[in-house]
Amino acid sequence: MDAARIDEVVGDFVRLKKRGVNLIGLCPFHDEKTPSFNVSVARGIYKCFGCGKGGNSVSFVMEHEHFTYREALVYLANKYNIEVEETERTDEELQEETRKESLYIINAFAQQFFQEQLLQTEEGTSIGLSYFEERGLTRDTIDKFKLGYCPAEGEVFTQTAIQAGYKLELLQQLGLSNQYGKDFFRGRVLFTIHNVSGKVLGFGGRTLSADKKIPKYVNSPETEIYFKSKIVYGIHQARKAIVQQDSCFLVEGYMDVISLHQGGIENVVASSGTALTQEQVRLIKRYTQHVVILYDGDAAGVKAALRGLDIALEEGLNVKVVLLPAEDDPDTLVQKLGGEGFRKYVEENRKDLIHLKTDLFLSEAKGDPVKIAAIIKDIVASIAKIPDSITRSLYVKQTAKMLEVEEQLLISETNKILRKGAMDKLPPQDKASAETSDTPVIQREQNNFTFHFDEPQERDIIRLLLDNSAYEVEGENAIARILRNLSDVEIDHPVYARMVEAYKTGFEQGIFLPQSHFMHHDDIELRQLAIDLLQTPYELSDNWGKMHDVPITDKQFLVRKDIVKSISLLKLKKILRMKSDVEARMKELQDANDPSTLDEIIMCIKESMQLQQFIQKLSADTGTIVLPVIR
Ligand code: UTP
Ligand code: MN
Repeated sequence: MDAARIDEVVGDFVRLKKRGVNLIGLCPFHDEKTPSFNVSVARGIYKCFGCGKGGNSVSFVMEHEHFTYREALVYLANKYNIEVEETERTDEELQEETRKESLYIINAFAQQFFQEQLLQTEEGTSIGLSYFEERGLTRDTIDKFKLGYCPAEGEVFTQTAIQAGYKLELLQQLGLSNQYGKDFFRGRVLFTIHNVSGKVLGFGGRTLSADKKIPKYVNSPETEIYFKSKIVYGIHQARKAIVQQDSCFLVEGYMDVISLHQGGIENVVASSGTALTQEQVRLIKRYTQHVVILYDGDAAGVKAALRGLDIALEEGLNVKVVLLPAEDDPDTLVQKLGGEGFRKYVEENRKDLIHLKTDLFLSEAKGDPVKIAAIIKDIVASIAKIPDSITRSLYVKQTAKMLEVEEQLLISETNKILRKGAMDKLPPQDKASAETSDTPVIQREQNNFTFHFDEPQERDIIRLLLDNSAYEVEGENAIARILRNLSDVEIDHPVYARMVEAYKTGFEQGIFLPQSHFMHHDDIELRQLAIDLLQTPYELSDNWGKMHDVPITDKQFLVRKDIVKSISLLKLKKILRMKSDVEARMKELQDANDPSTLDEIIMCIKESMQLQQFIQKLSADTGTIVLPVIR
């Protein structure tokens, strides 16, 4: 698997940014807010300094996709269009080829068959292929989405499959053949439905007949491998672009996904005409928090559809909605405007979900107070679904303005719902007491800090690295421990940063660099730094030992204390600075009073609160007292 470039393999799942010679991103294996997941292209490996997971392309795919070794090899082979050698399989392994796997195999066979029919038979090309071409699809697109055609004559597919050794019973289970042994999709063009990693789950078949009595689409039934509520159409082709652009378009139809792709908009999936489910939302959330939903202009019940989106709010997604012109769906619009024009349209017409709802409902109520009361209930119910309290409170403010009602009214309505929700989760005996407490919707926190220190903390870290390469703390080498704790810290001083980088590089190769490495280093600045620091050895006074109530000889304990304290101090210093930067930016935005910056203001507030939590924790670690000053 030498062809598999680690950055390309990982890049399909993780948004990577350049950091020095390496790439860095948010670790897909544990929950984190600051990136500690490192990818070294030169060495072909990844390593998370947060959770410790590491390995090469194959192990990444195994771990991330829950693949067996063999499945991982096949996946990479497919990605790079290379052959995997068929290895001899034992009886045991053959037995392990479960029912599920045979379903996948049959689906793959069917997909291949339908594709050949479309591209290589007279009936297929003259009916199916010409249909797709009329709809503006290129050969590349047809190939990328594995489009197909099923012959009109009764049982061509079923017979071919049986001859190839597949059981009719399984063909029927997959919905490829009906109870009479006839082809289920006969005479239809086919859309292949893939799972995230590209296995075939089933098909959607579109009729070419204009007869209104014939269903436009028929779809594969649910099976052991195909759960409609758990998948969105196009995720396999879209996920890389979703990660890269950190945003996902959600449309309704197969053709919408495909035409957008062809127009160069690849971060798009379809719910396939059904209401969005929680599992589908969570699937998308694996790749991004930002969803833009495109509704056909002719969608009869836009408002009903908008209610269905509360599920996305509940999962904490940031949801924008675009209503398309009455006569269009995304497919026709992108064909009209082209990719760039389409993007521009979206940019100009996307609305925040809750604002849109408020707008639409208001224009319908036309000032009728009874209707407005109902609207308030509805909007408040949506707002209460949002898990994040800050986002919630900002929506409360804005919708209060739009609805021309007191903010306090919306706050207490929201609180009612939240309290009810919280109480529904409590055992009955606790409910009475919970009733009286007030769930805070809006939290205000204003703090002020005075702090004076500078580079010494970074220097201290370098000293720790140089000093302790031979020590272990709780079974972990001190350098490894320091690097792990340092994974989310950016060292500002350029020479110190190079030093840390050198330790990291060593660590990735499994080496804990000794002092001597730097005493004779080619990089004169690193050498000088090492010599400086080691000539003035850091000494622990007896006093220190007494203060912390440990014998000074307990080096392991001291090293641990030392690491925690030094790194926490460094982080504290940096975080205080970040917090004041964020707050300055926030003030700037708030003063400008521009509604389009809402998202950014929310981000700032969240960030500042998060930083505040870090500060609290770090203050405890360092024994530093940070006093909040209430203004
Ligand atoms: P649409 O009726 O909007 O179709 O249904 P479309 O995607 O625009 O298709 P074209 O452009 O007419 O070819 C949206 C989606 O709803 C599902 C399909 O997934 C379809 O893509 N659907 C629709 C069905 O499953 N069955 C149907 O009978 C109709
Ligand atoms: Mn359409």
